[in-house]
Amino acid sequence: MKLSPQRLRSNSVMPWFASSRMASLVLAFACAAIACASHAAEGDKPFEPVVGQAGRDVVWVPTPEALVEKMLDVAKVTPQDFVMDLGSGDGRNIIAAAKRGANAVGVEYNPDMVELSRRNAEKAGVAGKAQFIQGDMYVADISKASVLALFLLPENMNKLVDKFLALKPGSRIVSNHFSASGWEADESGRLEGDCGSWCSWLLFIVPAQAAGRWRLQKGELELEQKFQMLTGTYTVDGVATAIEKGRLLGEQITFTIGGNEYKGKVSADAMVGAGDENDFSGDIKFGGHHGVCSWMNCWVRISAGVSRSSRRRPWRQR
Ligand SMILES: C[S@@+](CC[C@H](N)C(=O)[O-])C[C@H]1O[C@@H](n2cnc3c(N)ncnc32)[C@H](O)[C@@H]1O
Repeated sequence: MKLSPQRLRSNSVMPWFASSRMASLVLAFACAAIACASHAAEGDKPFEPVVGQAGRDVVWVPTPEALVEKMLDVAKVTPQDFVMDLGSGDGRNIIAAAKRGANAVGVEYNPDMVELSRRNAEKAGVAGKAQFIQGDMYVADISKASVLALFLLPENMNKLVDKFLALKPGSRIVSNHFSASGWEADESGRLEGDCGSWCSWLLFIVPAQAAGRWRLQKGELELEQKFQMLTGTYTVDGVATAIEKGRLLGEQITFTIGGNEYKGKVSADAMVGAGDENDFSGDIKFGGHHGVCSWMNCWVRISAGVSRSSRRRPWRQR
């Protein structure tokens, strides 16, 4: 079956991969007619996956090998990383990450795919670094991952988004084609040439939690956060000025107030200026030592916004 994002997104064929109920039906028949039947008939023959075969929450469609490498490039995977793939299929993302020296773990529901992944890792000589867990991606512990390399549907990503946002700020999530609703990629691109179908990638950098109130020497900054995007106001003597161009890239924060750009680094208790001429040491600096702040260009957190892990987070998309 020829795959293309256009076909999969069209109403007639979308059920095959990108929709739900009809997909299950179509896939149940397809599986019965092709994969399942042939599997049963072939007895002891080694398992061979079939593109489009049913999966618990999403079918198996492999990421093209060229995109696998590109995704690991844009995520800047190094031997220091711990890479995970949720719904790891035949293990290709994990094996490629392990070849780059990273420790990598795939979580895959289909036990045959897990066995196949282990065989593939063995063949590639990276069985020591590439591990596979048979299980449900929704209950997997991903908290130690520094990189996620994924190919999931938006509905899967939406269910996982709280776990994504709970990763350490600066963690990289690189995805084939799809994102969680409302989360704009920090970078994106598409592989041309002979990549085939499913050749676009999206990179998301897990943002720090900057939402809440921050005290400055003269006034208060109140920030609202939707993924990495920030809006809010700076209030001094009862006069509020809207902040503009507010954005986080991991712990790095930038925004402008009254045309002046501010840059810094967000931690649990403070925002510290980046130290260049555009940092927080402008007009609205925090003026002296106060608790966690020992720099002139440090702002103190008064209160956090709604917790990132809260189900009630106002900006969470359902
Ligand atoms: C679109 S494929 C992606 C495979 C691989 N990540 C890649 O990029 O080539 C999705 C995979 O998720 C698996 N899957 C579906 N639901 C799952 C679940 N709840 N937990 C773990 N794996 C699941 C499917 O069996 C399938 O192998």
